[in-house]
Amino acid sequence: MDLKQYVTTVENWPKEGISFKDITTIMDNGPAYKYATDQIVSYAKELGAEIVVGPEARGFIIGCPVAYALEIGFAPVRKPGKLPREVISADYGLEYGKDTLTMHKDAIKPGQKVLICDDLLATGGTVEATVRLIEELGGHVVGCAFLIELKELNGRAKLGDINIKTLIEY
Ligand code: PRP
Repeated sequence: MDLKQYVTTVENWPKEGISFKDITTIMDNGPAYKYATDQIVSYAKELGAEIVVGPEARGFIIGCPVAYALEIGFAPVRKPGKLPREVISADYGLEYGKDTLTMHKDAIKPGQKVLICDDLLATGGTVEATVRLIEELGGHVVGCAFLIELKELNGRAKLGDINIKTLIEY
């Protein structure tokens, strides 16, 4: 399946000069959403992932069905003030802006094999901060899966030799 046909590009959103990739038109198409999920599930199986981690909010949309299909857990990465128990934090830079990400301190068990899922690899700031959080908790990031990679932003450079799978490239 050519997934790219289901992505909607919205020019100059959320601000001038940004060409936004809207994945809701993948999600609202049952076969496309299932196909995208199945690709990542196969990848996760190859890696032997034991838990899925996804940054809010679109990382939940990608990661949760993968965790469900594999019958493994899902741990959310959230913006500050959203998780109710003790957290660890990491700062990161976005394609447009800056923020902090948090995870529950007990979300990952030491040595656990982690797959990170998100909709988009742009500058790589979000995923790099997510890797730092997981590694601080003793987890081992075995791979990162994204629906979309914006190649010219070279987010891969922030991930060193971590294995990466992307389904659609621009
Ligand atoms: C978007 C996207 C990725 C991140 C990619 O999330 O869903 O998580 O930006 O950009 P980067 O590679 O430059 O870090 P956003 O922070 O907009 O949050 P949202 O999913 O809650 O809209």
